[in-house]
Amino acid sequence: TKGAAMVTAVASRVQAQRKQIDKVLALFQLTREHLVSVRDKMRAEFEYGLQKKTHPLATVKMLPTYVCGMPDGTEKGKYLALDLGGTNFRVLLVKIRRGRRLVRMYNKIFAIPLEIMQGTGEELFDHIVQCIADFLDYMGLKGAQLPLGFTFSFPCRQTSIDKGTLIEWTKGFKATDCEGEDVVDMLREAIKRRNEFDLDIVAVVNDTVGTMMTCGHEDPNCEIGLIAGTGSNMCYMEEMRNIELVEENEGKMCINTEWGGFGDNGCLDDIWTQYDKEVDEGSLNPGKQRYEKMTSGMYLGEIVRQILIDLTKQGLLFRGQISERLQTRGIFETKFLSQIESDRLALLQVRGILQQLGLDSTCEDSIVVKEVCGAVSRRAAQLCGSGLAAVVEKRREDQELEHLRITVGVDGTLYKLHPHFSRILQETVKELAPQCDVTFMLSEDGSGKGAALITAVAKRLQQPQKE
Ligand code: GLC
Repeated sequence: TKGAAMVTAVASRVQAQRKQIDKVLALFQLTREHLVSVRDKMRAEFEYGLQKKTHPLATVKMLPTYVCGMPDGTEKGKYLALDLGGTNFRVLLVKIRRGRRLVRMYNKIFAIPLEIMQGTGEELFDHIVQCIADFLDYMGLKGAQLPLGFTFSFPCRQTSIDKGTLIEWTKGFKATDCEGEDVVDMLREAIKRRNEFDLDIVAVVNDTVGTMMTCGHEDPNCEIGLIAGTGSNMCYMEEMRNIELVEENEGKMCINTEWGGFGDNGCLDDIWTQYDKEVDEGSLNPGKQRYEKMTSGMYLGEIVRQILIDLTKQGLLFRGQISERLQTRGIFETKFLSQIESDRLALLQVRGILQQLGLDSTCEDSIVVKEVCGAVSRRAAQLCGSGLAAVVEKRREDQELEHLRITVGVDGTLYKLHPHFSRILQETVKELAPQCDVTFMLSEDGSGKGAALITAVAKRLQQPQKE
């Protein structure tokens, strides 16, 4: 009977621990009502951002991009494209042939060291120009005078396609003396300082817009661009008459929503957890980009890490020992989350990954870690899907349609690498926007190709057609 009593004691301890774990996981489980409310709040924020009176204080900024036309297939030529703000910095040469689907590309990836991302603006732009010089050298194009499209994936206030004032840095960047400055001017000045080549900077483009354009090149129904990667953002084609910041009333213009800032006014506080708060406080921009911090690759691993620390403190994981590794910011990159959540992976392999991260786990630990990752990424996909439901519903209502068919061009490591994110996102959109038939189209290198396409369209509109 002594043995039986011990078994009962162990069983009830295990049960109690399970309860504690479930309590934490439950914070991440959103009901349908939660998601509907997220959708409706997002919709309301769109309107605040679009209207002149409410725009200055809006947290979803709804920035006009001055991209009005989609490519029509007559674009052609050679373009240089820069891509700053995603996982890597890249320089590309893009050749567009007349007609569709014929875009050839060459590109080179350059690292941007942390001390440059967070140094001075001049150092950052000098580094960028250094990379361009290396690329031109490498391609044997030193003297060439190519039109350039600059994909700059941060919130910019634009007054034309070739002007963009950085509102504020997001994600991992924090270079000084850039906020409030025109990034095209900064690039031009850095090119001048180097005094080696000249480039014709035609367009500054957000990555969402580039992604939409690239997919729009193949599918004219593509009127939304989505990035679920290091950061999270969405753009879409809006009726000109709804954009109060732009005088014009005819036609459509692409709006960069910068929806990452959703929730910064506290409207998501009901689902904001203590772990989200900790991630926010440890970030480069506390209090900012709350929705982005719940939905994008740069932060999901951090949320997981905060939960694991808490569970360990409660004695529910890693034998109650908080290792130095677990206290290291940024250890859970998107690729690790994706691996841990992969269904093809046996638990032993999950332990292997944790081992690689320097975390000694038991089999039970690895089960809990996998559950934590699942809860965090599921919530992210559902939140992102709710936001997307808001925009497709808006487009449907604005066009007074019973039914809307629309395509979303998508890019980003989270969407592309994670085993469940894209499916849950799509299911959520279907559930919350049943009158819309939404097709998801993966963009292949939207930031690069898209910048070139936009540059080509801008050039075409700049000069009267010669042929
Ligand atoms: C951040 C940026 C936004 C960008 C997104 C995805 O949210 O502010 O401009 O589109 O990341 O890279």
